[in-house]
Amino acid sequence: MELSDIDLVNPDNWVPGVPHEAFKVLRQKAPVFWQEMPAPDSGFWAVTKYDDVVMVSKDPLTFSSFKGGTILRDLSGEDLANTQTIMLNMDPPQHSKYRKLVSQGFTPRMTAALEPRIRAATVEILDQIAARGECDFVRAIAAELPLIVIAELVGVPLEDRHKVFEWSNRLIGFDDPEFEGGAEKGKMAAMEMWLYAHDLAERRKDAPREDFVSLLLNSAVDGEKLTQMEFDSFFLLLAVAGNETTRNLISGGMLALIEHPAERRKLLADPSLLNSAVEEMLRWVSPVSQFRRTATRDTEIRGQKIKEGDKVVVYYQSANRDEEVFPDPYTFDVTRSPNNHIAFGIGEHFCLGANLARLEIRVMFDEILRRFPDIELAGPVRRLRSNFINGIKEMPVKFTPPRVG
Ligand code: HEM
Repeated sequence: MELSDIDLVNPDNWVPGVPHEAFKVLRQKAPVFWQEMPAPDSGFWAVTKYDDVVMVSKDPLTFSSFKGGTILRDLSGEDLANTQTIMLNMDPPQHSKYRKLVSQGFTPRMTAALEPRIRAATVEILDQIAARGECDFVRAIAAELPLIVIAELVGVPLEDRHKVFEWSNRLIGFDDPEFEGGAEKGKMAAMEMWLYAHDLAERRKDAPREDFVSLLLNSAVDGEKLTQMEFDSFFLLLAVAGNETTRNLISGGMLALIEHPAERRKLLADPSLLNSAVEEMLRWVSPVSQFRRTATRDTEIRGQKIKEGDKVVVYYQSANRDEEVFPDPYTFDVTRSPNNHIAFGIGEHFCLGANLARLEIRVMFDEILRRFPDIELAGPVRRLRSNFINGIKEMPVKFTPPRVG
């Protein structure tokens, strides 16, 4: 493959799978590569080496999340201003203050306290399909748990949770025609979700409860509380950030185990490998492909000159296959150690939900492997058309129904 053949933007190029071959060529020949984008969007520097992704992520004052937001497409005016109300798209010191506030809802204690509910929800999900011996793994299993957890976390009544499911699909699947593509539809979904969050907060203010929403609405840093607008933006971020990512890690992790039977056998024989297996699934799948930054001054990455205002995009999947950091990076190894993958990002914006996601994934695979150890594919896997999320839309599976009683 030549550099001139590489196009990381066209979502069609991601349908067969993450373009690992292109990333390998880029790491070797052009680790800071100028990638054109179709008009009206400007091109960008694609950063594919592990050390460079880390460096860019840890220097938010040079590589800003705020200036141009964190998505590939260029936003301006009201669209950019709306995006900048979300913490993902803030820089220090504004970001640090905001992060301190919302972190109170994500302490290890708060996360660990959710385990019994996560376990119960997982058992319920698997109970519903156990006797059938087959299902679409994505819809019936992988999508359900993150939805229930977010709904629980933010206090969305269970009967409304499929609304959140549909909104987040429309928000993030805008490149995939199956999810009623189009930026306008995405915007509508964001609006609807925004209104919903607003209403939820109003209700909670009238009747506070012992939950995350009430905690967020009442906690303060330096005497400042979240404004209503900030709360609504945070709700939107959680609903998107916590759903698609975890769903696709569970689907992609299951597929990796199915495609690597020897690794699955190791895990079945020794369940104490579950934690390192989860880390390897995160490295292997890296559900988030990339995030964007914008240079705030003239600078350099690996000798390549970057101009103020240039778009810089970090590719986590490429960093996580960097042969200078991971021995045999193309081998799926449930015992891999050390495993310093950066599937959750690194630096200021390191995933706020990382521990929660790890807990969900661990509990889910613990239950699946125990109950359906022989789970196999029962039809073709269909992938999401997206250059942002490494996603699976459909994955038919079959397994021996566990004996009852
Ligand atoms: C396997 C699952 C997940 C993956 C791979 C993932 C990945 C990421 C990545 C790469 C970032 C860094 C963004 C950047 O540097 O610009 C991030 C940030 C974030 N994630 Fe996750 N995430 C996952 C699950 C979750 C969950 C379950 C939640 C919440 C319930 C969540 C909430 C967030 C939030 C709020 C941020 C923004 C943090 C900040 O701006 O300081 N994520 N995530």
